[in-house]
Amino acid sequence: MKVIAINGSARRDGNTAILIETVFTELRRQGIDVEMIQLGGRSMNGCKACYGCFRNKNGRCVIEEDLFNECIVKMKAADGIILASPVYVADVTSEMKALIDRACLVSRVNGNFLRRKVGAAVSVARRGGAVSALDSMNHFFGITEMITVGSCYWNFVLGREIGEVRKDEEGMNTIKILGENMAWLIQKVMA
Ligand SMILES: Cc1cc2nc3c(=O)[nH]c(=O)nc-3n(C[C@H](O)[C@H](O)[C@H](O)COP(=O)(O)O)c2cc1C
Repeated sequence: MKVIAINGSARRDGNTAILIETVFTELRRQGIDVEMIQLGGRSMNGCKACYGCFRNKNGRCVIEEDLFNECIVKMKAADGIILASPVYVADVTSEMKALIDRACLVSRVNGNFLRRKVGAAVSVARRGGAVSALDSMNHFFGITEMITVGSCYWNFVLGREIGEVRKDEEGMNTIKILGENMAWLIQKVMA
């Protein structure tokens, strides 16, 4: 069993990465393989609306010169997907939105290949907008027929500087429980 996490932050190894690692700790505990792809510092373009993926139906986007196809190939192979984004102006980052738009179309025109995978959304904010960011990522899980995981609160933590999230004890516990629930659900779904 494998979970792939897409880190939508423009800042590599920041708070979003810390939260993903917190989920990973719980997944590893249950013997689930994990991998994180960080979009920060790499190129992730928006959908061009060329509908080339509708014509090609090869499980890929026609834009080959950025990170997208590496992501979608690994998302297709995984049993679970974590989408994680810091809040930028009360929503996900533009890199995460670009991935969501293109992954939605590519999956859809290739037999909805993300169907029934387990999905978890994670967000981090200095102060506000985290629920909106979670909504954006959960919309993706919904339309791709994925099964979403919850926790004991909405899946976000507060913090601005790198590492500040660790001071938000309630938030960190929410993410830990999310990891436990994701591991539990994947084992049930894949049994
Ligand atoms: C362009 C930009 C916009 C931001 N907008 C918000 C916002 O609307 N609300 C908020 O609470 N924090 C906002 N932040 C703060 C980040 O969400 C916060 O610093 C977060 O911890 C960054 O996560 P990272 O370390 O994974 O990049 C913004 C940061 C940037 C760079």
